[in-house]
Amino acid sequence: MATDSYLEIAAKEEKSVLEVLDHLMEEERKARDAMIEYRMRFAGFPVRKTLEDFDFKFQPTIDKRIIQELKTLRFLYNAENVVFLGPPGVGKTHLALGLGIEAIKAGHKVYFTNASTLVERLKLASRRDALEQKLKKLNSFKLIIVDEVGYLPFDTEGAHCIFQLVSKRYEKGSMIFTSNRSYGEWGQVFQDQVIAAAVLDRILHHCTTVNIKGESYRLKERKKYGLIGTKQMESM
Ligand SMILES: Nc1ncnc2c1ncn2[C@@H]1O[C@H](COP(=O)(O)OP(=O)(O)O)[C@@H](O)[C@H]1O
Ligand SMILES: [Mg+2]
Repeated sequence: MATDSYLEIAAKEEKSVLEVLDHLMEEERKARDAMIEYRMRFAGFPVRKTLEDFDFKFQPTIDKRIIQELKTLRFLYNAENVVFLGPPGVGKTHLALGLGIEAIKAGHKVYFTNASTLVERLKLASRRDALEQKLKKLNSFKLIIVDEVGYLPFDTEGAHCIFQLVSKRYEKGSMIFTSNRSYGEWGQVFQDQVIAAAVLDRILHHCTTVNIKGESYRLKERKKYGLIGTKQMESM
């Protein structure tokens, strides 16, 4: 019910101030929950993994205090970046998703995308002479999460598009990246040392890097259920 008509009815029924306030607060909470759910659905999260779901004991190379600091979302308010580096299965995407969910719960718009998908979309926009428009749209998000930088190398056009995006957001909006490649290998990912250096220069100027060096959580699960032998594991 619209607030105006509710207030009219409340006045007629001589509801107490407390009752009215209670009702209005409940309505506001419902509207906020609906907005959060809407943003969760349209963020493009592949799954919903929260920071609470993350087992820090399994991954001792991660300093929990750093994740707790990131959870305050100060990095978001300061337009800083976060990069999760490490081999497959160590929880990079999980932590990125967890921070994305925190940002949405705090009332922000978040966009989650795979690096290759993002590059294809930017290239398509560029060919249609609509890259500027696309970047503007992307910049309406308070946080952009780019997952899996490095699984597939970018071609020249793709590398330029990423450079455009990172330049546009530099000191204006936060990005989170996950990558299985160390920074030294980003030249190979971009297939161009100069562009990679320019991109990294902007990302790293205000950035928290979380370097995860542990064992794969996926392997741990498979090992637990006896689906994989230790010998096999060592060769992976
Ligand atoms: N420390 C952890 N605690 C709980 N779940 C974890 C942890 N690390 C990884 N996982 C889970 O293992 C799977 C692989 O993690 P993911 O974040 O996709 O790894 P990465 O992106 O580093 O390849 C996911 O289902 C994730 O939720
Ligand atoms: Mg991942």
